[in-house]
Amino acid sequence: MINAMKIREDFPILRRKVNKRQLAYLDNAATTQKPKQVIDKITDYYMNYNANIHRGIHKLSEEATEAYEGSRGKTAKFVNAQSREIVFTKNTTESLNILAYWAFRTLKKGDEVVVSIMEHHSNIVPWQMLIEKGVKLNIAGIRKDGSLDIKNLQSLVTKKTKIVSIAHSSNVLGTINPVKEIGRIAHDAGAICVIDGAQSVPHMPVDMKTLDCDFLAFSSHKMLGPTGIGVLYGKEDMLKSVTPFLRGGDMIKEVFQQTASWNDIPWKFEAGTPNIADVIGFGAAVDYLNKIGMKEVRKHEEELTKYAIKKMSPISGVTIHGLAAERGGAVSFSIDGVHPHDIATILDGEGIAIRSGHMCAQPLMAHLNVPALARASFYVYNMKEEIDRLIVGIEKVKKIFKTGR
Ligand code: ALA
Repeated sequence: MINAMKIREDFPILRRKVNKRQLAYLDNAATTQKPKQVIDKITDYYMNYNANIHRGIHKLSEEATEAYEGSRGKTAKFVNAQSREIVFTKNTTESLNILAYWAFRTLKKGDEVVVSIMEHHSNIVPWQMLIEKGVKLNIAGIRKDGSLDIKNLQSLVTKKTKIVSIAHSSNVLGTINPVKEIGRIAHDAGAICVIDGAQSVPHMPVDMKTLDCDFLAFSSHKMLGPTGIGVLYGKEDMLKSVTPFLRGGDMIKEVFQQTASWNDIPWKFEAGTPNIADVIGFGAAVDYLNKIGMKEVRKHEEELTKYAIKKMSPISGVTIHGLAAERGGAVSFSIDGVHPHDIATILDGEGIAIRSGHMCAQPLMAHLNVPALARASFYVYNMKEEIDRLIVGIEKVKKIFKTGR
């Protein structure tokens, strides 16, 4: 069982006060806080072995290369993949853009791509680019409880479908999608399966051998690591066939005046000097999560989420958006007659950080017929006491706006 009190000791920021109250950080789906192990690792790199990688014959460069490639190995193991199947990018969005630009080169008029209405903008907007080429973008629907309408998705995946790209877990509804089944549906139709794992990889064990999808994208900053580091996992053969969209130094094998050949995977996707320090810091975040154990992380969040939903559901005027049986720790809600930004502002006054807005999911907001939502989201250092404070805060919002009974 997770000892959140003990874990909190590693997170200096959680000691701070906001508006004279102890910070209750409940905006983890946006970004997570960083333990001192991660912060120290980055500082250590800059203090002791800052150098460029893959290029130097000198000691510092060797140490930096070893640490950078070591993080790749840790990341691969974390999702049960091979090191060569792990590409470091800037974020989930860049990882998905690599695939969308490749699709732009290879897909043809009449081809189709399937996503769902619950996608984050990063898994819709890049694919919209293909519409210019005459590719059809099909959007699978959801059920009332916020779960994916898998029958609808199945009906949209045909021989014309080349790519099915779906969030493993929704950043708004919390829904965890059956990606193994989605992968089977995609493969049966001869399509590629892409998973947006931004909200799943940080929160549960994810095993790419078991899931058998072709690509997976996720971000370091949502799993205790630094910002500026994303991951694109791709099956070896798949990555080999993808064309790199950033070109320049380090991603080449040979360069002539008019042509060039590409480096092996994964380096052919890592053009230029990468974000070395933060990749190394990300490795420390992976170590930290491994030490807790991803099954424990999942269990802790399930417990907190169940507790939050149980406490919030009976409050009159409060609606929770997303009550699928399989769900993660993002709990989006609205309060009758109160704009979500007002909810967030009042809660901030109590030292409670939540997100409000369209959650980078405007098509979903339109589908739910709301302009915006408020969202609390949990991680390893959160405690039930913070949820109790959230409930008191919600009651305060209601009192100020005189809403509900
Ligand atoms: N994708 C992040 C969120 O949902 C930013 O808040």
